[in-house]
Amino acid sequence: MNVINVDYSTKIPNNVGLTEDRTVLRALESWHPGYIDWWKTMGPEGFQEALVYLRTAVSVDPKGWAKFDYVRMPEYRWGILLAPAEDGRKIPFGRHYGEPVWQEVPGEYRAMLRRLVVIQGDTEPASVEQQRHLGKTAPSLYDLRNVFQVNVEEGRHLWAMVYILQKYFGRDGREEAGELLQRRSGSADKPRMLGAFNEATPDWLSFFMFTFFTDRDGKMQLESLAQSGFDPLSRTCRFMLTEEAHHMFVGETGVGRILQRTCEAMKQAGIEDVHAIDKVRALGVIDLPTMQKKLNLHYSLSLDLFGSEVSTNAANSYNAGLKGRFQETKIEDDHRLESSTYPVLKLVDGEIKRVDEPALTAINMRLRDDYTADCQRGLDRWSKIIERTGVDFKLKLPHVAFNREIGEFRDINASPDGQLLDDASWQREKGKWLPSAADGDFIASLMKPVRDRGQFAGWIAPPRVGIDNKPGDFEYVKLAA
Ligand SMILES: [Fe+2]
Ligand SMILES: [Fe+2]
Repeated sequence: MNVINVDYSTKIPNNVGLTEDRTVLRALESWHPGYIDWWKTMGPEGFQEALVYLRTAVSVDPKGWAKFDYVRMPEYRWGILLAPAEDGRKIPFGRHYGEPVWQEVPGEYRAMLRRLVVIQGDTEPASVEQQRHLGKTAPSLYDLRNVFQVNVEEGRHLWAMVYILQKYFGRDGREEAGELLQRRSGSADKPRMLGAFNEATPDWLSFFMFTFFTDRDGKMQLESLAQSGFDPLSRTCRFMLTEEAHHMFVGETGVGRILQRTCEAMKQAGIEDVHAIDKVRALGVIDLPTMQKKLNLHYSLSLDLFGSEVSTNAANSYNAGLKGRFQETKIEDDHRLESSTYPVLKLVDGEIKRVDEPALTAINMRLRDDYTADCQRGLDRWSKIIERTGVDFKLKLPHVAFNREIGEFRDINASPDGQLLDDASWQREKGKWLPSAADGDFIASLMKPVRDRGQFAGWIAPPRVGIDNKPGDFEYVKLAA
């Protein structure tokens, strides 16, 4: 078996030797029709026959793993790809620190590990469901192709998690794999497992914010699972991360192009006041205060995905060697954390205070802090775009206590600056900080599809370079003839 180049001769492309692994192959083959059914009913609506210029992973070689070509999405080759094994890899943290990594699930951690895999797996199809209507209003063929690329890769990430379930968890793994195709984003009776994955993605600004903020949570979760002592999970996640980078690229450049277009339009029209919202909107672009509100919403929703700041579950999965910290192997400490502390923001006597907590139980908080730092770097790049146009406006991440449903701050109201507010003030002020129905209506009014080659909707700037270095007028999607 060649782990670098992927075997495409089987129905399910893979670099895990599926042909010799009949039981798992059969389990996956019997799961396959249900998946295709799910894709056709819950995947991108109205574009199943279109030819889309997509990248497919044909190798796990970091120097060149993808091949670009026109594909009908239901015929996309979703495969099972693990990053190459690292020789002599040791468990990098927790109470088993320094022991050889596991190639089979340790019995005592079976339930905990399965839950981690199922939660991660559930987010993948959820985002495809959330984004299924976006094709109809894409601002260009370039953007249309990008949402589909993200969608097929989220589909592949579901395959990645289903492979782990079916190969290592026997019958209950197969049941969980079936369940992953049953839940639906936003459904009242069978919702997806996590809050942000049941929210609507009604427009392209929401999509770009989602891929920037929520896919970045995904990146942080995958980074910490890539540290896992359970080696197959680590290898799966390592390869998923290479794809995930594109999703965040789509989000960051998407928002960046909107900011660029708004600022250019304001300059052209001679509008200096960024708060002259009606005047800016009359130009057919999205005003900067609304961009800030959307950012506030998506950031706060995504923070909830990290769970409670202080969590024994997180401590247990760290201790067990299942889920590590961001860049665990680069951190210089004992990697056991039994006697160290980590500062956590908490509500103490009605005030937000930094409190030292045992580092083990503060694992979620630490990952969330790393996430915030990563988001901030993206915001700095956005602010540069604005600055270069000469418009005076700075985007800011809201305080972590703002608009929270989970963790320390779920029962209080706080402004984006972190000032605590009573209910009445929150109700009065929140429209300044979170998108209102009217803001949503305005954004929706801009969502008119643009399908001519090389053309872009007026509210978003063209990208600086094409996908796969294609020229500006490249036909990224050939709509069904
Ligand atoms: Fe994913
Ligand atoms: Fe993603």
